[in-house]
Amino acid sequence: MRLGFLGTGEITAAMVRGLQGQGHTILISPRNAQVAATLAAEVAGVTIAPNEQVVAGSDVIFLCLMARVAEDVLPSLPFRAGQSVISVMVDAPLARLRQLCFPANDIAITIPLPPIAKGGCPLPVYPACAALDALFGDRNLILPQASEQALNAHLGASALCSPILDQLLTATDWLAAHTGNPAAAEAYIAAMIRAYLPEIATQGDLAAALKKLSTEGGLNVTLRAAMAPAKDGLRRGLDGFHARLGLNDRNGERK
Ligand SMILES: NC(=O)c1ccc[n+]([C@@H]2O[C@H](COP(=O)([O-])OP(=O)(O)OC[C@H]3O[C@@H](n4cnc5c(N)ncnc54)[C@H](OP(=O)(O)O)[C@@H]3O)[C@@H](O)[C@H]2O)c1
Repeated sequence: MRLGFLGTGEITAAMVRGLQGQGHTILISPRNAQVAATLAAEVAGVTIAPNEQVVAGSDVIFLCLMARVAEDVLPSLPFRAGQSVISVMVDAPLARLRQLCFPANDIAITIPLPPIAKGGCPLPVYPACAALDALFGDRNLILPQASEQALNAHLGASALCSPILDQLLTATDWLAAHTGNPAAAEAYIAAMIRAYLPEIATQGDLAAALKKLSTEGGLNVTLRAAMAPAKDGLRRGLDGFHARLGLNDRNGERK
């Protein structure tokens, strides 16, 4: 396939690495210059080209710009009907993308995460997108959504990784302070969490894993009780995304 990436930053680097070895022709835009040069040197089939050529020479175009930059850049680019456009941008709704990429009308939004470089990344998408399935479906978990609002809720939930990692680092520091070995402490915490997560969580797997860690009076239950206020904090933080992500509150009203 002929693929194009507008905006060559962190997420483009991860996606291009995740596509390597599949025989695609990949055009990437020249900014960021350093990331573009690294990708072109590292991944066979990758060529750096001006934004206009990225669009003119591709059948599938990934929008990996910051949304405010996309407002300036996209209207002058030679999109055409029949191209697939896949946006990964936060704060760029579908209705606006249709205007910015006209006359291209096969437009979808997905939410890749940096681990897509190696595969195993969840990819919620709206609307369903045949090109995304063909390119990433083999090695990742494509999750078609019923509405743009459902997709946007995944954007909010995707922010969970950062506070969780923050907590893992806090526990790592605590462990290392007692063992004197920070590297081994980090290895232990990371391996333990990885081991507890189901490969693909289906409904109830996470709850079942938690139930196994619920012995009355045990260390797990004791620590969970001490951290109970953090659950409210998490709910509040997620609810705080309602206005930005166009979500309804749990009573069905938009905040
Ligand atoms: N990183 C993630 O984990 C992640 C995950 C999901 C979605 N996203 C979304 O993906 C988008 C990109 O995020 P990112 O983390 O990859 O950001 P990033 O690393 O800052 O990449 C954005 C890229 O756009 C380039 N750019 C700026 N102006 C341009 C122009 N006129 N033409 C072409 N390229 C231009 C920047 O180049 P310069 O450095 O030269 O300015 C930069 O390389 C955002 O909308 C973000 O919300 C990111």
